[in-house]
Amino acid sequence: PMYHNGLYHFFYQYNPDGVTWGNGNLSWGHSVSVDLVNWFALDAALQPSRSFDANGCWSGSATILPDGSPVMLYTGIDARGDQVQNVAFPKNASDPLLVEWVKPEYNPVIPVPADIKRDDFRDPSTAWLGADGLWRIAVAARVHDVGGATLIYRSKDFLRWERNADPLYLAHAAGMVECPDLFPVSEPGVEVGLPASGAGARHVLKMSVMDTVQDYYVVGRYDDTADTFVPEDDDDCRSWRRLDYGHVYASKSFFDPSKNRRVLWGWANESDSVSDDLVRGWSGVQVRSRRRAHTVHQ
Ligand SMILES: *[C@@H]1O[C@H](CO)[C@@H](O)[C@H](O)[C@H]1NC(C)=O
Ligand SMILES: *[C@@H]1O[C@H](CO)[C@@H](O)[C@H](O)[C@H]1NC(C)=O
Ligand SMILES: *[C@@H]1O[C@H](CO)[C@@H](O)[C@H](O)[C@H]1NC(C)=O
Repeated sequence: PMYHNGLYHFFYQYNPDGVTWGNGNLSWGHSVSVDLVNWFALDAALQPSRSFDANGCWSGSATILPDGSPVMLYTGIDARGDQVQNVAFPKNASDPLLVEWVKPEYNPVIPVPADIKRDDFRDPSTAWLGADGLWRIAVAARVHDVGGATLIYRSKDFLRWERNADPLYLAHAAGMVECPDLFPVSEPGVEVGLPASGAGARHVLKMSVMDTVQDYYVVGRYDDTADTFVPEDDDDCRSWRRLDYGHVYASKSFFDPSKNRRVLWGWANESDSVSDDLVRGWSGVQVRSRRRAHTVHQ
């Protein structure tokens, strides 16, 4: 999800070849809205077309750059079956609908590292700018012999990315994690758009844990110099607070500058049978929620 020039954009995992899950041509569907209630479907924004995403365009995130233009980071499954991180830009940044997206030749920008299995490396977060002027992203992974990890990569230009020696968070006991999200919450009534450390700021780390198919979050202290995060709660992410007690999974949030609020989207499989899905012609829903004012823990 993102807000750009007066429009909300929602990009989502979409199978153009069928009603139910199918990983062949996994694409990014694209819808826009002025009010987050009424939505208009556009053509798919990203579809597998190159060696670096030949086996699907998987989850990723939008980042709004300081000049107001958006950039996408997404996981491609490449022709060899490796999960790699790719970048995409609007073809025409003046197009209000941002219908067409360009994937530069230099992709992938982050290949799968040696200590991570080819299918355990995905879901780049929205990037945030540190005080040193470098962009950071979090990427979910399972590191050999270590456990589920939220890795931090830093970059000047979205092209060359360097991995931090230490992950932002390590889930020793949990297996693979997905869709990490880090965002600031500050004292009551005030909220800042992008992660930043400093007096009064606390951060929320949200992760989707494959073991349990649940989304969890924790409040903690993020240090944007060392890129460390110290949770205020118990260390096993599977005992953190849950975002939802139904089937919400793989949620992602974005900052809405028009209302100075953070909005979270969650995917829910709505638990119908495959035969019902086929008859109805669709499966899966998106649910939206907003942090209740003046509270962090609700
Ligand atoms: C992907 O799309 C192409 C072009 O429409 C089609 O030929 C191919 O069968 C699709 N692959 C899968 C696995 O559905
Ligand atoms: C880009 O989009 C703007 C606004 O729709 C349009 O006026 C312009 O012609 C487009 N430029 C190109 C090169 O297509
Ligand atoms: C929906 O997701 C839940 C976990 O969130 C899972 O237990 C259930 O099997 C899924 N249902 C279907 C129909 O895929």
